[in-house]
Amino acid sequence: MPQLAKTTREQQATRRILVVSADPALSASIDALVDPGPTRRFVCAHSPTLAATLATLQREGADAVLFDLDLEESKAVDSVKALVQNGKAPVIILTRVGQESLSLRCLEEGAQEYLDSDELSTVNLRRALGYAISRHRANNLRLRLEHSDKLAALGQLTAGVAHEINNPATYVLSNLRQIEEVVSRLSKGAGKPGDLDLIADMAQDCRRGVDLIASISRELKCYARSDDAAYEFIDLGELISNTSAMTLNEIRYRARFEKHVGDVPMIVGSRSKLSQILVNLLINATHAIQEGKSNENLIRISCDLEGEDVVIRVRDTGCGIPDRDKEKIFEAYYTTKEHGLGTGLGLPICREIATLHEGKLEFESTVGEGTVFTLTLPVKTALNAPAAPVEPRPPENPEGRRRLRVLLIDDEPLLLKSLARMLQAHHDVVAATGGALGIDALGKQEFDAIICDLMMPEVDGLHVYQALEARYPELISKLVYLSGGVFTDRMSSFLETIKPRLLDKPVSRDALLDAIEALTSPS
Ligand SMILES: Nc1ncnc2c1ncn2[C@@H]1O[C@H](COP(=O)(O)OP(=O)(O)OP(=O)(O)O)[C@@H](O)[C@H]1O
Ligand SMILES: [Mg+2]
Repeated sequence: MPQLAKTTREQQATRRILVVSADPALSASIDALVDPGPTRRFVCAHSPTLAATLATLQREGADAVLFDLDLEESKAVDSVKALVQNGKAPVIILTRVGQESLSLRCLEEGAQEYLDSDELSTVNLRRALGYAISRHRANNLRLRLEHSDKLAALGQLTAGVAHEINNPATYVLSNLRQIEEVVSRLSKGAGKPGDLDLIADMAQDCRRGVDLIASISRELKCYARSDDAAYEFIDLGELISNTSAMTLNEIRYRARFEKHVGDVPMIVGSRSKLSQILVNLLINATHAIQEGKSNENLIRISCDLEGEDVVIRVRDTGCGIPDRDKEKIFEAYYTTKEHGLGTGLGLPICREIATLHEGKLEFESTVGEGTVFTLTLPVKTALNAPAAPVEPRPPENPEGRRRLRVLLIDDEPLLLKSLARMLQAHHDVVAATGGALGIDALGKQEFDAIICDLMMPEVDGLHVYQALEARYPELISKLVYLSGGVFTDRMSSFLETIKPRLLDKPVSRDALLDAIEALTSPS
């Protein structure tokens, strides 16, 4: 089939450029300029608005976007930001005299290149496109590598995490069994003195156990996310506890483990990226120690405030790093580990993350004695202003607070039951097991709020959305999704496009009540 092969090669070689401009004539002239020859290696398509461009990128993709800054100049920076965040294609801005500072801001937002519209020529266009496309590719490759390094570590951690979750799960279960026994005794009138205190005590232990499970699973989910660079306030004590819990099973057969967290302020940073550093440092420390002599070895993580910085140290009594290798350990792909144990990307990525946080990552090591890695992060006082005091929640079902009609949809019956129980004191709740029953319920009565699980077998959150769109569009603004993680491309692109309200599972009663209140309070 030579013909087909040729066509495919030709198609691969043709680059599709989207020209985003109010002026179709501009797109036509760029199309003519960029590839005047008979064999078209570049083809331009006109796109009149940002929304149309995002939709085309979603549907068909493109090799590059050429964005005319004259298109709604006041919104240009936001538009470029949206295109960059969309990430499907590199963005080149088309600028002119008088738009210098605007161009600069667009480049700061991540536009890969710029072109002066007074200097449009075949050579200039192709050079800009070539640069932008290869930079974009390199960046995507880097992100993929970063993510695959994380996933490799995640594989190693899974067994340990299962173990850490099993402990609290075991005592939660045994406490619940005992609660059942005591309650059955009480219901038969055979209660003993102190039974109610016993129940309260065991219920409190259960809640602690579940809190622990929830925080480990939250950490794991956050760690595995590839795109999450959002900055937030981070309690380093909690971050260190959770990442330690994730790695503890790896550590315990090789060393004793100590943790010290001094009086440190919250810092601003990316939770997922900082936990990536800690996990890599702890795993590296573990691998530096041979299995079997855990009493003789120590891994210690500490966190202290030193002047204007928060300093985290991971110290081990492992093999140490020979002087001749000290230069190399921050190089990409440098690893001394067996095939399958390490990729050699951990430390270079950690150093990059530290730099991103305006901090630094250093180490000292002596062969035969051990190694200490030091992560220094500045305390950004301006950003760390204390949060406004939180208003205490009014007592349950207070006078004057309107009871709302809430539809709860989740395929997990036990979870549904517990969510319904949480809300019943405040609102009138209809619980539907699964998307199909949820859609049925919508036809039977009116609702003020819909809380819907995202991932469900057969009729999922997206189907519920489509049903609302088709039959009850006024209810779309009343929808809040619950998500325990998104596992399909279809769902990810739905979330990316629609950007619905989303609460992460496990969800607390207060978070649910707040979300419902936000739906109904005037904005
Ligand atoms: N605490 C340590 N003690 C001794 N050697 C270390 C220590 N930390 C890092 N190294 C050395 O630095 C190398 C590079 O570490 P890095 O974290 O970049 O990659 P890796 O651990 O080999 O693989 P990856 O982190 O990608 O799974 C390690 O292979 C090891 O030789
Ligand atoms: Mg490593």
